[in-house]
Amino acid sequence: MKCIGVMTSGGDSPGMNACIRAVVRTAIAKGLKVKGIQRGFAGLLDGDIHDMGKRDASGIIQRGGTVLQTARCPEFMEKKGQVLGLRRLNEEGLDGLVVIGGDGSLRGALALHRMGFAVAGIPGSIDNDINGTDMSVGVDTTLNTIVCALDALRDTASSHERAFLIEVMGRKCGYLAAVGGILGGAEMILIPEIPFELEEVAQVVLDAYVQGKNHALIVVAEGARPDINRIAEYLRQHQVGFDVRVTILGHVQRGGRPSAFDRLLATRLGVAAVKELLKGNLGTMIGLKGAMTGTVPLEEATSHQRKVRDEYIELFNLVS
Ligand code: ADP
Ligand code: F6P
Repeated sequence: MKCIGVMTSGGDSPGMNACIRAVVRTAIAKGLKVKGIQRGFAGLLDGDIHDMGKRDASGIIQRGGTVLQTARCPEFMEKKGQVLGLRRLNEEGLDGLVVIGGDGSLRGALALHRMGFAVAGIPGSIDNDINGTDMSVGVDTTLNTIVCALDALRDTASSHERAFLIEVMGRKCGYLAAVGGILGGAEMILIPEIPFELEEVAQVVLDAYVQGKNHALIVVAEGARPDINRIAEYLRQHQVGFDVRVTILGHVQRGGRPSAFDRLLATRLGVAAVKELLKGNLGTMIGLKGAMTGTVPLEEATSHQRKVRDEYIELFNLVS
């Protein structure tokens, strides 16, 4: 192997830059050439590809987002796009590729691997829904952002005696809501994995009021149904004691300086990805298993999206 490419794809996540830096510098240290592919698979198809030296990875470890930028690329979902992608990789003289991204991006990486290309995947996504890794790059920073927001909202909720519904990201996986809710001391979490009735939500808020609490915080995952606006409407139509306010955290959760944990995780996974390519261990995702990095075949990593672990639901129920 002489020359590898690196790309970030799908939703950005804090720590992607630290990961790019680790891939670039490890590759160079091992005598490989490196090329950066801008905007994920979209940039690959457009041939938006450039050489990267050690200095191109300078001053980025502390920055959120991704200097390689990212995109969604519907054309790459089709065989035609994937074949064009393979052609572009060959035209550029690349013989290996590191894909940093979420579960969709890893499926894209798998498609290239199935056509015989040497790929390594790194889980970069705030959702923590990728199978085969305990943590994805970006999750810890996002949790810190959520906890800061919950602490701030609790101040206002207590001062005004209000109930706050706070929406966090996670269309299919309630990890951020569940763990954010535990760490922010919420009264209730509502997640896609667990069905709930509006009456139950109203009861929790009313109970908090009757017990003499001066606030109620409810963390709602983006994918929870009924959605946050319907829940707010219901609470406002029923006597729950508190005034109700809605805060949607949105994309503020995706950017920002990566935490120490994410910088270290990203660095470890980036270094390991290059080493795995050099060892000839192709078509794998490098993830975190307990305290150690480890590999899992991309087939397994993309076989399903992980749901929030029961342990966290139990933790929430015991300590809330
Ligand atoms: P994420 O990587 O954050 O989960 P997406 O699911 O939007 O984000 O996927 C990012 C990109 O990965 C898509 O726009 C597409 O280019 C590629 N991709 C997603 N799913 C597949 C698939 N099944 N086959 C090939 N490429 C895919
Ligand atoms: O996968 C990361 C994520 O932030 C999800 O939590 C969220 O549902 C989605 O991406 C939002 O995507 P977009 O950037 O297209 O709004």
